[in-house]
Amino acid sequence: MTETNKTLLSAAVRAKIDAWLQRYPEEHKRSGVLEALRYVQEERGWLNEEWMDAVADYLGMPRIAVYEVATFYSLYHLKPVGRHVISVCTNISCMLRGSEEVLAHLKKRLAVDVHGTTADGKCTLKEVECLGACVGAPMLQIGKKYYENLTPEKIDAILASLE
Ligand code: FES
Repeated sequence: MTETNKTLLSAAVRAKIDAWLQRYPEEHKRSGVLEALRYVQEERGWLNEEWMDAVADYLGMPRIAVYEVATFYSLYHLKPVGRHVISVCTNISCMLRGSEEVLAHLKKRLAVDVHGTTADGKCTLKEVECLGACVGAPMLQIGKKYYENLTPEKIDAILASLE
């Protein structure tokens, strides 16, 4: 790991990664990549190439392998996002139960398109694949919370509750 990259990961993030890596044999450190990226994102708000490279170097894995992980999972943000990331599931169950209307309502209310962030930096709108809450379709996620069986009225109430 280069000195430059070492300084990109804060001591707090490195400590969290090190603690997480205790679960894996030394030769399987790369198994901790999901958590390592999550720790960086929690601290920075999103993931840029430099920070992903730093994670790759820290875990001793190819940088391209980290990009593959970060671009595959919708939980990672590859550009700056608003304080609240609204992830709308548009996979099959949610689609059959009106996710298109949910998305259209949010686009209109927030005045942004998918991947857009509101002018005040408050909300970013994302469209994502199944989040495993099909029974409550249509649904969306904000932070660590799921909101299910959405209606326009429920969506308006959710938006009003965001600080
Ligand atoms: S299809 Fe939307 S949560 Fe599964």
